[in-house]
Amino acid sequence: MNKVRHIGMIMDGNGRWAQLRRKPRTFGHIKGARTAKKIITACSQMGIENLTLYAFSTENWLRPQAEVNFLMHLLRRYLKRESENLVKENIQFRAIGEVERLPADLVNAIREVTQATQHCTGLKLTFAISYGSRQEIVHAVQKIASKVQKNLLTVEQISETLVSQHMETYPACDPDLIIRTSGEQRLSNFLLWQSAYSEFCFTDTLWPDFSKEELIAIITDFNSRERRFGKTSPQIANEQLIN
Ligand code: IPE
Ligand code: IPE
Ligand code: MG
Repeated sequence: MNKVRHIGMIMDGNGRWAQLRRKPRTFGHIKGARTAKKIITACSQMGIENLTLYAFSTENWLRPQAEVNFLMHLLRRYLKRESENLVKENIQFRAIGEVERLPADLVNAIREVTQATQHCTGLKLTFAISYGSRQEIVHAVQKIASKVQKNLLTVEQISETLVSQHMETYPACDPDLIIRTSGEQRLSNFLLWQSAYSEFCFTDTLWPDFSKEELIAIITDFNSRERRFGKTSPQIANEQLIN
């Protein structure tokens, strides 16, 4: 049986959920934030080590300004309201992405919650905000190149491990399972390097309707999958016998 240590979640479908109810898209985002809160608690209770939530992509900056502003407001409100609960639930928070592009008060809220939860030892919760994996890879290449330039590294020392260590998700392990709601089957610039051997689950459920029960069903399905990492099925069976 597999053990899921890290779940990546592409929370998609808020707009369509609201549209189905003839409501503004913002209504879907509010409901989506509630779902996020429930799923975070569920993952914490289930003893999952890492949860990475895709909250706002680099490309989402292209949305109408009013929607961008609303999403920033919602994130800030979530962090202010949830800081204490996160500590109570022993959840360690951090954000990845181009934080410098965010409004100053949101950056402050992120800093405060990160500090408040830094000693928590339960679920490691990562919000990907203003995050794009291609940008993350570019930054990693820049950092590595600069170390080579300063003679802190040789070209031969550049390895898969070293590149992973320069990704923003470090030191979290790669995601075992990436879930995307709303029926879209794409990564939309999420964890491109880290998802090389992730299992994927695409569900038609719109994010505001996503539930703990569905998450458990997805994890149960994940547990029964055979992860071969390039090897053959008999090899995997043999390894399991030895272990
Ligand atoms: C996901 O829902 C939330 C964010 C991307 C911030 P969407 O807003 O993308 O909802 P749809 O895809 O338009 O339904
Ligand atoms: C991806 O959703 C980003 C988040 C869930 C935050 P989008 O709805 O922005 O993705 P695309 O643009 O349709 O691929
Ligand atoms: Mg979408």
